[in-house]
Amino acid sequence: MNIDTSRDYACKLDEADELSGYREKFFNADPAMIYMDGNSLGKLPLRTVDRVEQIVKEEWGTQLIRSWGINWYQAPIAVGEKIAQLVGAAPGQVAVSDSTTINLYKLAMSALMLRPERKKIITDTLNFPSDLYMLQGCSHVLGGKHQIQMLEPADGLRINTQVVLDAIDEDTALVTLSHVVFKSGYMYDAKTITEYAHQKGALVLWDLSHAVGAVPVELDAWGADFAAGCTYKYLNGGPGAPAFLYVRRDLQDQALSPIWGWFGERAPFSFELDYQPAQGIQRFLCGTPPVISVLAMEQGVDLILEVGMDRLRKKSILLTSYMIDLFDAILAPMGFTLGTPREVEQRGSHVSIRHPDGYRINRALIEEMNVIPDFREPDNIRLGLTPMYTSFVDVWESINRIQRVVTEKRHLRFPETRQAVT
Ligand SMILES: Cc1ncc(COP(=O)(O)O)c(C=O)c1O
Repeated sequence: MNIDTSRDYACKLDEADELSGYREKFFNADPAMIYMDGNSLGKLPLRTVDRVEQIVKEEWGTQLIRSWGINWYQAPIAVGEKIAQLVGAAPGQVAVSDSTTINLYKLAMSALMLRPERKKIITDTLNFPSDLYMLQGCSHVLGGKHQIQMLEPADGLRINTQVVLDAIDEDTALVTLSHVVFKSGYMYDAKTITEYAHQKGALVLWDLSHAVGAVPVELDAWGADFAAGCTYKYLNGGPGAPAFLYVRRDLQDQALSPIWGWFGERAPFSFELDYQPAQGIQRFLCGTPPVISVLAMEQGVDLILEVGMDRLRKKSILLTSYMIDLFDAILAPMGFTLGTPREVEQRGSHVSIRHPDGYRINRALIEEMNVIPDFREPDNIRLGLTPMYTSFVDVWESINRIQRVVTEKRHLRFPETRQAVT
């Protein structure tokens, strides 16, 4: 292969990068650090620092309870409308609330209640475990009559679309998958799967946690029924920032949340004793939103909207392709294997590389090389490429520092025993 593996070439790619200026819009305490985990926790936008100070001092400190009537009460819907623009949803279908897991639960239960006579739930073993636990919880609550079918990847990385289609039949109530899967970064053909599920009368719930802000998402065009996703990854919303959910407009009158709380009620401040669901997406809210987090997260969303998904996707493809080229040239000969699909249309914005000693290599990278990726069992080092702030030199440095760790046997100094957070 004729790839230029020099650092100079990476510098040239950075010079040609029209998004390079966005790197300066993020807090950067250590310019020498190579941050490769924006797919897990996005960096802190500088504007968020100022906004949080303003929320705390002015909206909470000065305005106190009056802020609810100014901008707080509307925030879950208002910020949801901004996220809607990133997931191809017309207004009135997206709200911010709770965690992704809770939203998935609300939506999966809602779907299962809409298909009471059907018993099958289709998902896969590539899905995030919390999604699978959530489904098991739904089945438990509904009396254990559902069968959860977890499709298995033949190559450990991906499941062909046809395999998913073949699993869907007239007894399928719900198909639920991650659009971009958390370990390999494989991206499903969401439109084909959604359309086929509908032909069979099933509903579809997409987990967009690794997709939103990373790849183009077109919920309305796919015909998706439900979706939810994290905001603390590519949206740079902050640790534990509340998640979002989507319910297709024409399902909203029939679909009910399984958690009936006052923020999802028709008139919360009339304090009626009997629950009447609000019209529209608001019925999927439940309790008081974490206002500071919602408004802090909004800043990250604004930045993504400013850049636009087309430009982000274009750069993301350049970054992941460049990383795979360097991987092939430098790491593959050292016993690493690629844990991410090579086909551009099948991958999101992170690259997983696999090595039997992946855990210890990951630790050496963090503790000795100032590179921060993360590790996912059994052997995946995940390298998140966040087009807004990852540079081509970051990619070059990551691959070369990984090479150094192994050549200098630095990883052997670390124990196999896993730390609590990997
Ligand atoms: C794909 C996916 N789904 C769901 C979750 C769970 O999100 P939360 O912890 O906000 O419920 C995560 C968390 O990383 C995730 O990556």
